[in-house]
Amino acid sequence: MRALTGIKPTAVPHVGNYLGMIEPALRMQATHESYYFIADYHALTTLHDPARMRAHTREVAATWLALGLDPRRTTLWVQSDVPEVTELSWLLACVTGLGLLERAHAAKAARDKGLEIGVGTFTYPVLMAADILAYDADVVPVGRDQKQHVEMARDMATSFNVRFGEVLRVPAPLIRDEVAVIPGLDGQKMSKSYDNTIPLFAEPKVLRKKVMSIVTDSKGVDEPKDPDACNVFALYRLFAPEADRDALAARYREGGMGYGHAKQALYEAIEARLGDARARYAALLAEPDALDGVLEDGAGRARAVARDVLARCRDAVGFRPTPRGVPR
Ligand code: ADP
Ligand code: TRP
Repeated sequence: MRALTGIKPTAVPHVGNYLGMIEPALRMQATHESYYFIADYHALTTLHDPARMRAHTREVAATWLALGLDPRRTTLWVQSDVPEVTELSWLLACVTGLGLLERAHAAKAARDKGLEIGVGTFTYPVLMAADILAYDADVVPVGRDQKQHVEMARDMATSFNVRFGEVLRVPAPLIRDEVAVIPGLDGQKMSKSYDNTIPLFAEPKVLRKKVMSIVTDSKGVDEPKDPDACNVFALYRLFAPEADRDALAARYREGGMGYGHAKQALYEAIEARLGDARARYAALLAEPDALDGVLEDGAGRARAVARDVLARCRDAVGFRPTPRGVPR
């Protein structure tokens, strides 16, 4: 089984990205052939700052590696290093109805707000389908917000296959319920768009400050509290070992514990889980040439797969094989 997923280099990754997608994807390295990429073509729909694009691309790569991506086992690359996906996105656009794209959440949200939407944003789901289909992916580990996009990729693969034969593998989203929507500091979905994130590799001081700013209700120290209704505990349960989790839940229910204590426990649990990775992250960023080497190697491997899939697609639609003389 082949697993594939992508993350945009639009900011430094946050705890929601980590728990919702990166960590589940990393665990799949043991059981799946894994293909993980940095979605810079997609980032370009909103990020028009070349210095930030370059920096965030390296930061996302370093994040994956610091957290345990093994580049011998998993192919890690930058989306735009494999231009075949843009070619496939055209083939898919030609079998996709406008209505499908109009129903996409991003397009709908912009229309509801009366905002004009860029062509890149409108066709974002077609490019994302090409990302998935160009590598014959079986499963796509993502957070719940991406479910619709993966379902659209299934629809496009099916429309293509109906017309041209069984050429594209039809993928499925893989969403783990317990981490499908990680809450941010204010209890809404953690997202860079809501400015409520905990950056994954924040320095201890910054991390502690962020954790201390998580919104809670105003129950006093003595009052019993419900761990399942608390934003602090929602994160704690995902970071702490089971025994600690049960112990803190009991303290919530007993009363006599303030939210400050729970926040300190959360800070320590995050630090215990991510402290070493933060050091590895800094070391990786200090050696950009080594990082670029990993990405180049990954691009070569990814491109070989995408070329084969494209060759199948070109043949199926009646195009000539890509001429040998065309450098690729
Ligand atoms: P953001 O919403 O901050 O812009 P991205 O869209 O770059 O984040 O998300 C990258 C990956 O992380 C996607 O698979 C997405 O589903 C997942 N993800 C992002 N935020 C969360 C969250 N709060 N809970 C669960 N998964 C998330
Ligand atoms: N749209 C995804 C996000 O915003 C990123 C992405 C691009 C992606 N192409 C993909 C995810 C292919 C999974 C598979 O998070």
